[in-house]
Amino acid sequence: MPSHGLEHWRRLCEQALPHPGHADLELAGRTVADFFLKDFADLGERSVGRTAGCAEMEALLREPPPEAGMPFTEAWQSFLTKVAAYSFRPGHPRFLAFIPSAPTYYSVLGDWLCAGLNYFAGVWKEAPSAAQVELVVLDWFKEFLGLPATAQGILTGGGSEANLTALVVARERLPWEHRAKARLYTSEHRHWSVDRAAKVIGLHADQVRRLAADADYRLTPSSLRDAIRQDQEAGLVPWLVVANAGTTNTGTVDPLDAIAEVCRESGLWLHADAAYGWPAVLIPEGKSELHGIELADSVTLDPHKWFGQTFEAGCVLVRDGRLLEETFRMRPEYMQDVTPDAGEVNFCDRSIALTRRFRALKIWLSIKTLGVAWYRRLIQHCCALAEFGQKLLEQTPGFEILCGRQLSIVCFRYVPAKLQNETEEALNRFNLALCAELTKTGRAFLSTTLLNDRVALRFCFVNWRTTAADVEEIVKLLQRLGDELATRFRYS
Ligand SMILES: Cc1ncc(COP(=O)(O)O)c(C=O)c1O
Repeated sequence: MPSHGLEHWRRLCEQALPHPGHADLELAGRTVADFFLKDFADLGERSVGRTAGCAEMEALLREPPPEAGMPFTEAWQSFLTKVAAYSFRPGHPRFLAFIPSAPTYYSVLGDWLCAGLNYFAGVWKEAPSAAQVELVVLDWFKEFLGLPATAQGILTGGGSEANLTALVVARERLPWEHRAKARLYTSEHRHWSVDRAAKVIGLHADQVRRLAADADYRLTPSSLRDAIRQDQEAGLVPWLVVANAGTTNTGTVDPLDAIAEVCRESGLWLHADAAYGWPAVLIPEGKSELHGIELADSVTLDPHKWFGQTFEAGCVLVRDGRLLEETFRMRPEYMQDVTPDAGEVNFCDRSIALTRRFRALKIWLSIKTLGVAWYRRLIQHCCALAEFGQKLLEQTPGFEILCGRQLSIVCFRYVPAKLQNETEEALNRFNLALCAELTKTGRAFLSTTLLNDRVALRFCFVNWRTTAADVEEIVKLLQRLGDELATRFRYS
């Protein structure tokens, strides 16, 4: 750069950059706020959404970055026609695929506030209120689950990150010379993020033992005990068990207290993956089903699943909370000004992220505004929907329950009279095709899984908007579409 005097440089930067003024910001803000108000009022009356192929999306959205901007209203029109129209809405009352997510209005506002404030939630001294709100929310979760006061945690981007964080903490306890021999035990129905976390921390595929579940899709303590014994005899190092507290496929909860006992006997770390199922502890039925979760060494929970939060809201809690910081804490020079004093928490010391959103705000705002009682009703409502869905399927000709209600999930398939004598392979193709036909209607969105080699459709209820009428509509639609499909279906 040429050498200029002080005044030259002052002139170049004496003005802030132009940014739209109050009127423009107000219009943009109101447009978005109105959109969400309408969205909350009538989401269920609209399409559940649609997918699109790569060519369609390229044709709609590919463009060079515009050198000059455009009025917000124009960008908004592009958003409405080219973006909003081409995605499914996980909060739609008839979106029952995978594990949906139906954020409360206060979660959406909390996320907006979080973005607008943009607090740095990595270190205490920069945003002590954000850190304290996160500590309070984590304490509420600990209390719900019955974890001891020694437990500490952190909010993560989701369950995958939480599972990984727990595995890293547990691995820290393993002496280096044991790491190659360490064995992780889990059920064949674990979530695949466990396999990925194992891979990320450097385990070989054969260090993860995926044990066969029983006929009810549960990990059995006896098979776990046997596997541990075999590995001990082979000179390996049984290290950690990942138990399910609500599998993604069926909602099944492994026998957590008995598994905790096996872990205690042999000195293994117990990690409970409760990403989906954890809020069930808010009601007596769920509390007894998840009994033993309070004994886990670490727990994954995803508020963005069955707790009305926007993506991304995950959480990991570690029973001996000090281990989190012992595992992740670093003290680089340029952060010497934000070294925490006693009692203060730098959340960047508890996981891999340094820069973090103020995720706790949306959860805090939702719980404070709606109260825990609302959440209890949410869990009861979703379990009742699943019970209703199962009964309705049982009473509707052609439907077969493949796994009865577990928490708020039901798995089933449709076998119309015309297909009664078909092979399992043909029924699988038929049910995959039926699910795709349902999606095309835009009225509902389900997903499928495989249970004992059979394609199963799933109902997963986590949404406060969903009603019995929604379930009835889906069952009727499946029956009508299924019967139509059966007349033109190629069986072989
Ligand atoms: C049981 C279970 N564990 C972990 C995960 C991963 O969570 P996330 O998608 O938030 O990363 C899921 C996601 O569906 C899950 O169902």
